Amino acid sequence: MKYQFKTKRLNVRPYKITDYETWRETFLNLGPAKNKWDKGTRDKKELTKKKFERILKTQNKNIKNDDFIDLIAFHKKTGAIIGFSSLMDISRGVFQNAYLGYRILNPYWREGYGKELIDATIDFSFKKLKLHRLEAGIHPRNIRSIALAKSLGLRREGMSKRRLFLNNKWEDMLIFAMTAEERGVNSISGQLRRGRR
Ligand SMILES: CC(C)(COP(=O)(O)OP(=O)(O)OC[C@H]1O[C@@H](n2cnc3c(N)ncnc32)[C@H](O)[C@@H]1OP(=O)(O)O)[C@@H](O)C(=O)NCCC(=O)NCCS
Repeated sequence: MKYQFKTKRLNVRPYKITDYETWRETFLNLGPAKNKWDKGTRDKKELTKKKFERILKTQNKNIKNDDFIDLIAFHKKTGAIIGFSSLMDISRGVFQNAYLGYRILNPYWREGYGKELIDATIDFSFKKLKLHRLEAGIHPRNIRSIALAKSLGLRREGMSKRRLFLNNKWEDMLIFAMTAEERGVNSISGQLRRGRR
């Protein structure tokens, strides 16, 4: 499968239908959210097979359209879901950009999983997807995420004012970015030459 990769401890790929039980058990047993950017246990009603099938349908459509890729990190040894990374609103043509999102489930924080997953997601984006730029918008008080972005070498570009409507108000976001050159990857990709979107 084109959209999968491995790290030292993780198998990373989109969901498959056979992940239903793992998905359900994971979100049923998460416990409470540990901060404003974390998420806690989900209601049983949101974890039905029908709902999962809808998620898969949307996921596969987004991948096919080269729009949005959700990647799930499964622990190689236990098969447990450890976290997620997303490449959102993929732009081709002269931009070759995606917005990078990530989350590690709170029982696994500060064990290096965030760094392991996002480091590999960056490689995958530049080398496999032939993107040129990744951008992460991070809330200025999300110190964990800022620490992760910095530790991966993402460059702080500045503060984007009133960028996202969160908790009923427009919030400023710090923008961190990286281009393929900063990762030592050739940036003139086949996609760019073909001028897709
Ligand atoms: C942000 C998040 C992904 C970090 O994941 P993690 O697996 O705990 O991070 P890691 O263990 O790989 O640590 C990565 C780096 O950040 C640093 N870091 C992580 N948590 C930290 C904390 N609480 N305080 C200071 N530094 C921290 C680590 O020291 C490490 O830096 P180093 O490589 O220089 O030592 C995780 O806390 C999370 O999912 N939070 C909720 C969702 C979220 O905020 N998503 C991001 C939205 S922009």
